Amino acid sequence: MYSLASSDQEHRRLQAASERIRELLDEKIFHAPLDSVSIHRVIYMGCEIGAITDELGTTYSKAKICGVNLSPVPALRLQLKNIEYIQGGIMELAATEKNDRLTKDTFDYIFSKFLMGVITDWKKYIELCLGLARPGAWIEIQEPDMAYFLSSSSGNAYDAIPWS
Ligand SMILES: C[S@@+](CC[C@H](N)C(=O)[O-])C[C@H]1O[C@@H](n2cnc3c(N)ncnc32)[C@H](O)[C@@H]1O
Repeated sequence: MYSLASSDQEHRRLQAASERIRELLDEKIFHAPLDSVSIHRVIYMGCEIGAITDELGTTYSKAKICGVNLSPVPALRLQLKNIEYIQGGIMELAATEKNDRLTKDTFDYIFSKFLMGVITDWKKYIELCLGLARPGAWIEIQEPDMAYFLSSSSGNAYDAIPWS
């Protein structure tokens, strides 16, 4: 579920956030050591507004890219021919045998980012990714470290808070 409105204003905010996160990552979004020649099928779980799906479609222009998202991906940009969006819940879609776009042993690269709060059972999610992955595929999962640090020192904020 996504708790904010699916509005133009929110899409612009998400686009701006995506650009800032890219800067924080030194302009390098994908970290798996991919060899573009052998990448034919890519799936991006929780693809939000499609900004990074677009990046995948451009970077791997010969591959088929699939973006999965619970809410519809807004038409903020021209959709590249090698991109297909599937609307629905990741776990539910993959569990539906008749969904022939999410077939087992198919994907060379499975990417997800910031799905904390979306995935409630990470073991199941990883099993799902392993099922979709072809032998030799890469599964890249980027999630933030939820530890809080003090700005004045390198200490972990939890150690400084007087918990009762
Ligand atoms: C926190 S956002 C992360 C978006 C993007 N991956 C990023 O890095 O900015 C979570 C996204 O997952 C989508 N989402 C939530 N529940 C989902 C589900 N069960 N299946 C697929 N997508 C889901 C939301 O619509 C939203 O676009």
